[in-house]
Amino acid sequence: KVIDFDALVDARTGRVASSIYTDPELYDLELDRIFGRCWLFLAHVSQIPKAGHFFNTYMGEDPIIVVRQKDGSIKAFLNQCRHRSMRVSHADCGNTRAFTCPYHGWSYGTDGSLVDVPLEQRAYPHGLCNEKLGLQEVTRVAEYKGLIFGNWDPAAPSLEEYMGDIAWYLDGVLDRRPGGTEIVGGVQKWVIDCNWKLPAEQFASDQYHALFSHASAVQVLGAKADDADKALGAGQTARPVWETAKDALQYGQAGHGSGFFFTEKPDANVWVDGMVSQYYRDTYPEAAERLGKVRALRLAGHNNMFPTMSWLNGTATLRVWHPRGPNQVEVWAFCIADKDAPEDVKQAFERSATRAFGPAGFLEQDDSENWVEIQKVLRGKRARQTKLIVEMGIGNEKLREDGIPGVTNYIFSETAARAMYRRWADLLACDTWAQVLERSKAYEEEVLKHG
Ligand code: FES
Repeated sequence: KVIDFDALVDARTGRVASSIYTDPELYDLELDRIFGRCWLFLAHVSQIPKAGHFFNTYMGEDPIIVVRQKDGSIKAFLNQCRHRSMRVSHADCGNTRAFTCPYHGWSYGTDGSLVDVPLEQRAYPHGLCNEKLGLQEVTRVAEYKGLIFGNWDPAAPSLEEYMGDIAWYLDGVLDRRPGGTEIVGGVQKWVIDCNWKLPAEQFASDQYHALFSHASAVQVLGAKADDADKALGAGQTARPVWETAKDALQYGQAGHGSGFFFTEKPDANVWVDGMVSQYYRDTYPEAAERLGKVRALRLAGHNNMFPTMSWLNGTATLRVWHPRGPNQVEVWAFCIADKDAPEDVKQAFERSATRAFGPAGFLEQDDSENWVEIQKVLRGKRARQTKLIVEMGIGNEKLREDGIPGVTNYIFSETAARAMYRRWADLLACDTWAQVLERSKAYEEEVLKHG
């Protein structure tokens, strides 16, 4: 069957077929052509500080062990015994000298090699090709400022090339202070009954929902009214950031997306603990020196690095949307904070991230209810034939002249959603990365013609 990907995603008019969230055939293709070819977040270096430290995660649906080697380098392996496919490492993380399969006891070194087979001489009198039966190694592993990524595709662009301008936006979290970042606490994991693209796209592109979906949280937890609000007679209610910010933008390119408001306050994020706010005020001058004023003040907004790594700057949540079939996603939420921050501030970061975006977080609940209900609606035969509208801000994309990189638009737009679905379709349609990159370039040139 020939799939018309341009019909599924028409970014020029801003129409997307509903079936991209439900079709099992497309999902299978995604595992191969997206999760098998893109750079995927695996772990943070702080989670595997010494030789033998390991962290278990996933690339798509494939279980992966990330492990620090004796020489300090990092490797990643498929967590699958070569004998009969049993998972060889069950702990979430830890330190070990070997991974021993619980089924029949084959044992693998932290370098992935098969080091012991019970009763080997008697059970395999003709010998077993041990050297060929190590754990399958993830083809490429690379680090960006403390974040470790893996990629199965030897022909994929380098991690830096793949990231492009999203690195500039990500630095707003990773590079505020000289010590970089670390993961605070464990990983919160939960399952949502929706396709992985719904949350990924929201974090890439959808600031629009915050006005309505999070209206009650904004009312309850909104910043105190400032003098400007009082002068306008706004009473006790502060005006939301989208009314007070002097500018705002959405970036969307190569599948990635980001957006933020230009504020003047170093602690302009109403969701965080008071201790975190104070920390942002105290560290603002240092961050501004490293990142410039715009990024140092950039604490509210949204981000996704294609396909599935999302983060929110001020709220310190970093998450991965692990796909679990077309109708389900497993969320892994990490709290990421400056390594140089005092311990009590790190705890405050974790409280803030959990309170707002943990599995029972007051903002997480607003979001996941939307995604679950959409997925339920799309069980309907007729609903599945409907095209979704992603045309907000079409024709207003531009390159900025103030040094902020990439294709941008006003924050309330769907520029990043269109870029994400375009990259999604191009990856599914194209056999080579050269073709994918060529298509992206052509799309971006066309988009910028009108801006
Ligand atoms: Fe691992 Fe048999 S499945 S030793």
